[in-house]
Parts: sequence; structure tokens; C-alpha cells
Amino acid sequence: MNDPEKEIVRKGYNAIAEKYLASRSEDSADVQLIDELARRLPPGAKVLDAGCGAGVPITKRLSESFSMTGVDFSEAQIRLARRLVPRAQFVLQDITHLAFPDDSFDAICSYYAIIHIPRGEHRAILQNFYRILRPAGLALLCLGANDLERDVVEDYLGSRMYWSHYDSKTNLRMLTETGFDLIWSRTVADESSPGSGHLFVLVQKPPP
Ligand SMILES: C[S@@+](CC[C@H](N)C(=O)[O-])C[C@H]1O[C@@H](n2cnc3c(N)ncnc32)[C@H](O)[C@@H]1O
Repeated sequence: MNDPEKEIVRKGYNAIAEKYLASRSEDSADVQLIDELARRLPPGAKVLDAGCGAGVPITKRLSESFSMTGVDFSEAQIRLARRLVPRAQFVLQDITHLAFPDDSFDAICSYYAIIHIPRGEHRAILQNFYRILRPAGLALLCLGANDLERDVVEDYLGSRMYWSHYDSKTNLRMLTETGFDLIWSRTVADESSPGSGHLFVLVQKPPP
């Protein structure tokens, strides 16, 4: 991989996978939102978790009712996920290069991964999610709530880390321009960083 920003993120999560998992709450407001997606899906639905990390708590929770595929580009995260969520399938891949066929999934969720990708690529990610969702498919996505072109910190859980995202208004406009219908959007406070938050959206690809 020759994209320096993605390398910061991939190497970072390889180094901090266990620490990040230990810091991840299993029942915070963001995690509870997954039930809003789950209750709209039939048992056995095909669901993609894009940037799944160690698969806990999100992939694991969904794997109780659905057929899960988790994708992450960090080897350490995928190793942990395969151990912790044996019922799901995991793929080591960059989520900006997902080559699943059109209409592959009933739903996609993505928690705290898109915000680690240079924001100039966010529109293409949303367009690809739209393509691989079946008509009437749902996506629960975590996006930026404020305008941040680029941020690199030297010590995030002990490693270098990178973030990049748009503000809520821009993200909501991009989703609509991509073709999604908005079901709801919510700003969820970041428990680890007082005063900041993320935009969570539940969107639908229009029915046929
Ligand atoms: C903050 S962690 C969140 C993990 C998990 N979604 C959760 O909620 O616990 C972000 C994850 O996104 C992954 N990630 C970031 N950019 C990615 C990319 N371009 N392709 C695949 N995975 C990516 C990282 O490796 C990391 O595991």
C-alpha cells in the first residue's frame, strides 16, 4: 500500500488492536443504534460491516441474527475478529476497494472507519456502498460531524493515527446526491473526547 495516510491508520490499528478493543464500550449510545438497523432486517439478512475492527461489539451483535461479512485492512484486527466472532466471515481488504457484485447486501454498517480515510474519497465510498446494496437495502454509517480536512496525532492509544472528514451538512448532502433516502441522522457525543461527536445516519437505497 503506498497511500501514506492509510498506512498510518493500518499500522496504527495493527499496533493498538488489543488496546482499542479494551477501550470499546459494549453498550454505549452508538452501539445501541445497531438495534435500529437490526429490527428492520429479516433473520438471515446479508450484512456487511465495513471497517469491522476486532468485530466486537458490532459484528458480533449482528452475527446473532444475520449472515455477517466483516472487512478491515488491519491484519491484527482481522485476526482478533476471526477468533472473537467465529460465526462471521472476515476479509482483509481496504474498504475503498470493495469489489462485491452489485446488490450483494441487505444492509451495510460502518462504525468509525470512514473517518480514518482521506475525505476526498468519501463520496466514492458512499457510491460504492450504494452499488453493492440491494434495492431497499439499508446502511447505518458513522461519519464526521465537523469539518476536519486532516488530523494526525502522535499518541492515540500509543500509536500515530490519522482522521479526515466533512461536517454533518456536507455528509447529508453527499448521501442525498448519491441517491440514498435519509431515515434519520443523529449526532452522538464521543465519550472519550468531551465536546466532540460523530454523525450517525440510517439511510436506504430506494426500493425498485
Ligand atoms: C476505530 S476502529 C473501529 C472498529 C469497529 N468498527 C468498531 O466499531 O469497534 C476503525 C477500524 O477501521 C479500519 N479501517 C480504517 N480505514 C480502513 C480502510 N481504508 N479499509 C479497511 N479498514 C479500515 C481500521 O483498521 C480499524 O480497525
